[in-house]
Amino acid sequence: MAVLLDGNALAKEIREEVRRDTEHLVSTRGVQPGLNLLLVGDNPASDVYVRNKARDCEKVGIRSTIVRLPADAQQDEVLSIVRAWNADDDVHGILVQLPLPPHIDEQRVIRTISPTKDVDGFHPDNAGRLLIGLPGFLPCTPAGVLEIFKRHAIETSGKHAVVIGRSNIVGKPLAALLAQKRPQGNATVTLCHTGTRDLAAHCQRADIIIAAVGVTHLIRAEHVKDGAVVIDVGMNRLVADDGTSRLTGDVDFDAVVGKASAITPVPGGVGPMTRAMLLMNTLLAARGGPEA
Ligand code: GUN
Repeated sequence: MAVLLDGNALAKEIREEVRRDTEHLVSTRGVQPGLNLLLVGDNPASDVYVRNKARDCEKVGIRSTIVRLPADAQQDEVLSIVRAWNADDDVHGILVQLPLPPHIDEQRVIRTISPTKDVDGFHPDNAGRLLIGLPGFLPCTPAGVLEIFKRHAIETSGKHAVVIGRSNIVGKPLAALLAQKRPQGNATVTLCHTGTRDLAAHCQRADIIIAAVGVTHLIRAEHVKDGAVVIDVGMNRLVADDGTSRLTGDVDFDAVVGKASAITPVPGGVGPMTRAMLLMNTLLAARGGPEA
């Protein structure tokens, strides 16, 4: 039976570390870390995410401010809020919740966030730094996955990791990090996506499978080699006939748990780790950045 990689337990551990370090930063330097969050529109899922992030901040002593704009807000309005936050020394981290309404150029907004306050790690400066191995903000989900490997002493060096999904937020950065010569790296990486032929053949050769595609139960028993480590980044909402909904992953957990050596559940695996890493990044920003 697989070891359950309990993201809730690890995230709690990390929050406690961030709380302690935040307290220290306040008492020694008089700096209270601050995260400003911008939500445009009324996407209910985004609203929940943003509120959860602010609540997480509160738990560890990080100040947070949520600003909400209507769905028809103009791009210039968004950009001027971001610029004002860039110039505000009390704001250490800036998070613009995605997706933005279609009339707003998401990449333009991301590029306007100061790279030194980009706690999501989405700015091209940080994405480029990640790729060439310079210090920078790591996007929270890839950082959370590496933290799971670190804290469970899961060896990646010399292993074959198959990453499924090529998003800018998860798949691409995670594949780059795993391939790098660094702790929780040095793996041989295969990046699979919708253009991949015979996904199962790639997965069967994997020591580590990371599914980040958003397709419910794409990964089944036949994809998994005995003893593989399986990380499920999927967050798919399944709505039943009676209108109730539940969260499912990209991995058919019940089918795979008997073959894997370790596996993350959904919910309670990667999700809480992503939230915890946002707190870590905000603390890092308040201390002077990833290079300090
Ligand atoms: N939307 C979905 N995930 C994320 C995230 O990690 N950061 C932001 N800003 N928006 C998101």
